[in-house]
Amino acid sequence: MTAEQAQTRSLRQERWLLRYVTPQWAALSLGSLAMVLRAGVLALVPWPLKFIIDSVIGHKPIPSYLAALLPSAQTHRIGLLGALCVATLILGLADALLNYVGSRLYLDAGQRLVYALRTELFAHLQRLSLDFHRRHRGGDLMSRLSGDVQKIQDLITAVGGDLIQHALVIVIIAAIMFRVDWRYALVVLGTIPLLFIIIRIYTKLLRKAIRQVRRHEGDLWSIAQEAFGSVQLIQAYGREPYEESRFAAGAKKIFDASAGANDLQAQFSPVLTLAVAAATALIAWYGAVRVLDGRITAGELIVFLTYFRSLTAPTRRIAKTVRIIGRASVAVERIADYLFESSTIKEPAHALLPQSVTGRIDFEAVSFGYLPGPNILEDVTLQLVPGKRVALVGPTGAGKSTIASLISRFYDPVKGRVLLDGRDLRTLQIAFVRRQVALVLQDPVIFHATVWENISYGREGAGRADAIRAAVAVGVDEIIRRLPGGYDYVISERGQTLSGGQRQCISIARAMLSAAPIVILDEPSSSLDAETEHRLMEAIDRLTANRTALIIAHRLRTVIAADEILVLEEGRIVERGRHHRLIEEGGVYARLWTKLSGEADDASLPIHMLSHRLEGEAAE
Ligand SMILES: Nc1ncnc2c1ncn2[C@@H]1O[C@H](COP(=O)(O)OP(=O)(O)O)[C@@H](O)[C@H]1O
Ligand SMILES: [Mg+2]
Repeated sequence: MTAEQAQTRSLRQERWLLRYVTPQWAALSLGSLAMVLRAGVLALVPWPLKFIIDSVIGHKPIPSYLAALLPSAQTHRIGLLGALCVATLILGLADALLNYVGSRLYLDAGQRLVYALRTELFAHLQRLSLDFHRRHRGGDLMSRLSGDVQKIQDLITAVGGDLIQHALVIVIIAAIMFRVDWRYALVVLGTIPLLFIIIRIYTKLLRKAIRQVRRHEGDLWSIAQEAFGSVQLIQAYGREPYEESRFAAGAKKIFDASAGANDLQAQFSPVLTLAVAAATALIAWYGAVRVLDGRITAGELIVFLTYFRSLTAPTRRIAKTVRIIGRASVAVERIADYLFESSTIKEPAHALLPQSVTGRIDFEAVSFGYLPGPNILEDVTLQLVPGKRVALVGPTGAGKSTIASLISRFYDPVKGRVLLDGRDLRTLQIAFVRRQVALVLQDPVIFHATVWENISYGREGAGRADAIRAAVAVGVDEIIRRLPGGYDYVISERGQTLSGGQRQCISIARAMLSAAPIVILDEPSSSLDAETEHRLMEAIDRLTANRTALIIAHRLRTVIAADEILVLEEGRIVERGRHHRLIEEGGVYARLWTKLSGEADDASLPIHMLSHRLEGEAAE
């Protein structure tokens, strides 16, 4: 990154955060006002005490500006004392109230900001292209959505609630002290940087020690997670003692690292107390000298001592705020990283939205590679037409799933074009293209919800009745009804309480419900037993009837009935045609076929449902 880029980037970062801060300006400025007023109140707190000492106990006349405020109390000491005590109480009350109002306003504004930022970031991340999501782990996205966004709220409250207020308290108190006695003020203020340095040194050391502990903790939790995750393996091989010793070693590291941190933590408060005591002694000594010299009154000595006490708290808070700002700036950067990541799949400026489509797909000399990397597809030309089933076969890694991804425009070709009804996908609205395609994946995505809800995910606004109709239409109704609760059966997370076949049935019903003109099935029948596969193929048959269908299969018997078979090898279509023709040609497909049909025992071949097609073909 050049310096200039870094510059525009940091500017951009400030601006984007402002976009979220500005809507909260009313709450934030009211909150700041409360905090400013509170700083003023805090500066007034010791003054009634001063007058009690100087004018109630001592014999100094009260200043005229106060006398004007208290006409009746002027002559009576007891009356004056009462008024001063009431003033103390009122100041305390004002302090409490302003503190409450200010904190609430800041916390609420921060919460609203977090809400807006979080929902927008989620919406943005969700829309980023697949290549982004392949590059980033879910855990990383989660930590930015939760932790980093939270740190921005901390920043708002830290800057607004603490920094403004405490900095102001220091300034006001310093100003008052300088007015009363500037020499004495210098002595008092001179002790503050010393305290600040002690606090900084300790927090730095502590942070280092705590970070060490956290790192060891992280290691320990991954040891535990791994062990619980593979508990069967551990028990089977009797490796419990080994795992125990591994865990104990990890726990010991935390123990040792904590000892250092604990020592620092325990030292911190006493050391600070000592430093404050030393400073207090110095301030008391010098103050008393000033009183004896007649430069200040005894009451003013009390004011200075109280001020010194109230300066130590802001000093600590400001040291803490500096830390929070440091952490938040990292968070701001991490969020901006993703917030400004733009999708590689771009919506065209004047997106076409055709009234209707037939569902014809053309690949015109398409080449494609996942960047950065070599081309996965080379010069692929194919046609998918409504009412025809095309089967795509080929070894693992040949690029079959990649072809499916291009039809849904999850990626754009590097060379050539993908057309829907003769229109380049890149000229159509992205959501429109995807609505035309129903995907059935090898490992179907199932949500933690009821069966019917999982099916109805296929079309927005679809209800339970629609889901059942779709399931009946593809012939999986019976299978679903056998589940406890049938359509209302709540599936566990990621569909773990269902068999592969059951998941696939739901996925096919979902595709049926979507009513998309194009259906893509990516290895729908792999890892299924013969019986389930048979049922599934019936369902697939019904699903693909009258639609544009692409069936990717590495089980050849799934493809015998296809209207056209494309054989893909290393990203190129090497053979195409019907089953019989390809067998006769004796090429790649024929070799694959002989190999696979030789492996399968005859009883498991669900050819009977396909045989009528084969016979029909043979008769042609
Ligand atoms: N997101 C990706 N990023 C980089 N390479 C990929 C990605 N997806 C697939 N590939 C690579 O592309 C090739 C084709 O993959 P794929 O289309 O899934 O093959 P098939 O479905 O035929 O088994 C493989 O070599 C695979 O490693
Ligand atoms: Mg694949």
